[in-house]
Amino acid sequence: MSEWSPDSWQRKVALQQPVYPDPAKVAAAVGQLAAFPPLVTSWEVESLKRQLAACARGEAFLLQGGDCAETFDSCNADEITSKLKILLQMSLVLVHGTRRKVVRVGRIAGQYAKPRSADEEHQGDVALPSYRGDLVNRTPFTREDRTPDPELLLRGYERAALTINFIRALIDGGFADLHHPEYWDLDFVGHSPMHKEYERIVESIRDSMEFMENVLDAPASSTTRAEFYTSHEGLALLYEQAQTQQVPRREGFYNLSTHFPWIGMRTADPEGAHVEYFRGIRNPIGIKLGPGFTPDHLTRLLDILHPDDEPGRMTLICRFGAAHVDELLPMAIDTVRATGKTVNWTVDPMHGNTETTTGGLKTRRFDTILEEVDKTFKIHHAVGSELGGIHFELTGDNVTECTGGARGLSDADLEDAYRSTVDPRLNYEQSMEMAMLVAHQLRNGA
Ligand code: PEP
Ligand code: CO
Repeated sequence: MSEWSPDSWQRKVALQQPVYPDPAKVAAAVGQLAAFPPLVTSWEVESLKRQLAACARGEAFLLQGGDCAETFDSCNADEITSKLKILLQMSLVLVHGTRRKVVRVGRIAGQYAKPRSADEEHQGDVALPSYRGDLVNRTPFTREDRTPDPELLLRGYERAALTINFIRALIDGGFADLHHPEYWDLDFVGHSPMHKEYERIVESIRDSMEFMENVLDAPASSTTRAEFYTSHEGLALLYEQAQTQQVPRREGFYNLSTHFPWIGMRTADPEGAHVEYFRGIRNPIGIKLGPGFTPDHLTRLLDILHPDDEPGRMTLICRFGAAHVDELLPMAIDTVRATGKTVNWTVDPMHGNTETTTGGLKTRRFDTILEEVDKTFKIHHAVGSELGGIHFELTGDNVTECTGGARGLSDADLEDAYRSTVDPRLNYEQSMEMAMLVAHQLRNGA
């Protein structure tokens, strides 16, 4: 393989990249971005890698979640707080189910770029570049808004910095009451046929909190500082490249715009630019694995991206869909076994289960999401493998984007509060309920 550098990907075919009209402006923005301080540090990145290695061994469990696409408008105190809150509360429910440490990773502070199925959008006779996320261009259908603007790379970095700054402050401040179920919004529990089981889970979390606080004579928040990590799809390669650097007394290069970047399903070509970029960074990385994968393709990706079998380096995020997981997951597990390498297996039960309603809205059904999780647990269990984590698109707000759950949201309800500009997310209640059902499954040995 030829020599790697943060920009060696530019010699390969880079899919899903914006075409900027003015190269001088791009160079100026990338130069400025490269001069800014990092958003995360290499020791945090290494600490997450160690924890992901524990997930792969079945000693910890990864909870990764957040928006499909963050928007610049959603960079505000309420939305950041509610995202952190839902992930923290779900993680406490999962601790109860797994009896393992839960590693929390947000799709946050940089999840601003999206892959698109077409480069252009047509309306009437007009064709304009597709909207690729706030890091690249703007949503209104005008030439000015849709023309990719390199200044947005800087605006995105600034939003990411504001977001991570606030997250760090909330976590340092203890976020104390969130450890206590009496402060959670659990009204939905009464609407479910499973309410007795849900109440039992909540009761048992409350008991453990009280027990800990009595034994340690200190609030739970002061003894268990909530660690939290960031992730985003490493899609817009100029943004990733600009924040990739060497640090004193460590070997190699780190992407310090995030702890945990992943390669999306559409850009995981072993010969392509994204794989070239990712092979040279020391971060733990994820790869989305979808219905089109082949054993050869996966083996080749592991050759290039996971050559030394470094613990914690590689997370495979399987998003096969409830209809295909039975066939494809065993094939993926066999393929990895044949390489002799260890990966952290996780499931994204969202992206293989997207449907369109008769009214034309993109949605996902709570039961289908759960079905993929359930099947995934059973397959790993049957072949003696470990499921090391779970990946959701969710929000802490009361949106109506996915159907089902305790309140039985129907297709007709989706219009009420459909806010996603891209994929449908679980809302606060659906996310909590999903965590409870997964915890219940885990406790009962899947
Ligand atoms: C996503 O995670 O939002 C996404 C685009 O996923 P995938 O690459 O798996 O389709
Ligand atoms: Co998505």
